[in-house]
Amino acid sequence: MKQNINWYPGHMAKAKKSLSENLFLIDIVIEIVDARIPISSKNPDIENFAVNKLKILVLNKSDLVDEKFTRASVNFFNGYNCVPVDSISGKGFNEIKRMINKFADEKREKLKKRGRIFSPVRIMVLGIPNVGKSTFINKFVGKKIAKAADKPGVTLSKQWIKICKDVELLDTPGILWPKFDNEQIALNLAFTGAIKDTNLNLYEIALKLIEKLNSIDKNILKCRYGIEKKNAAEELADISKKRGFVKKSGELDLDRAAIILLDEFRGGKLGKIFLDDLLDKRKSLCHHIVI
Ligand code: G4P
Repeated sequence: MKQNINWYPGHMAKAKKSLSENLFLIDIVIEIVDARIPISSKNPDIENFAVNKLKILVLNKSDLVDEKFTRASVNFFNGYNCVPVDSISGKGFNEIKRMINKFADEKREKLKKRGRIFSPVRIMVLGIPNVGKSTFINKFVGKKIAKAADKPGVTLSKQWIKICKDVELLDTPGILWPKFDNEQIALNLAFTGAIKDTNLNLYEIALKLIEKLNSIDKNILKCRYGIEKKNAAEELADISKKRGFVKKSGELDLDRAAIILLDEFRGGKLGKIFLDDLLDKRKSLCHHIVI
């Protein structure tokens, strides 16, 4: 399989340096992960380079996950300030604001006791590609401003946006590298769009997604495409047939079927599907709900 799972390491050292340079200005780091793959999409190093900061872990896209998985994820990240969020609707934002305000009050008190002047609390949003950093920032500040550079660790500009009198947010998110500890993590990142599609063989990824979905519940593809369970390649061919994806030559257009399958999965059209393995111990929880 052409799968560029070494997609970032070349940039890593540079990215870490660039982030460390930015982070000295920051009081609070908001790390955004994808609620469908909270473990796979969590940066492995953040605890090491964002020391002495308040860290808030945002489970974004929680609208694409059944609540019981979100609750289980929050339990899994016990000890973190973990907040499920839907950045499209703004659900969960009040809890984040509460944490930030509490931090600001404590900072003000601490500085007052030492006879020092209060400076605004400064926040930075971080996360791997495509987890919703820009969407989060735009919704959080109520206007469209965030742009993300395409390389981890790089921020394009340093504009502070006033959230309220005592709190400022960096307008551009920092892009983190994910971990590639094993093939399943790399695949989860590919399925959810965290790895650029141009770095992937989409046909192979679609076959892997079919296998993964069937392992979660064999009815997911049946419900969406009306196809029967066979092997992954045959099922992708059946999706092609059902959707009428045929090339001029008369052959089935399997690449188009692969793109549609991935798009529909990413957009939540196949149901609310949780991909990480944190719930393996709790077999009674099913992985998906058809919506
Ligand atoms: P990034 O800055 O981390 O790279 O991510 P970005 O905000 O660009 O978001 C990536 C995709 O995720 C976008 O979809 C965005 O709409 C979607 N998204 C972000 N947050 C949420 C969320 O809480 N729930 C859901 N369901 N989707 C979310 P897209 O299809 O790539 O772009 P668009 O056409 O929707 O703008």
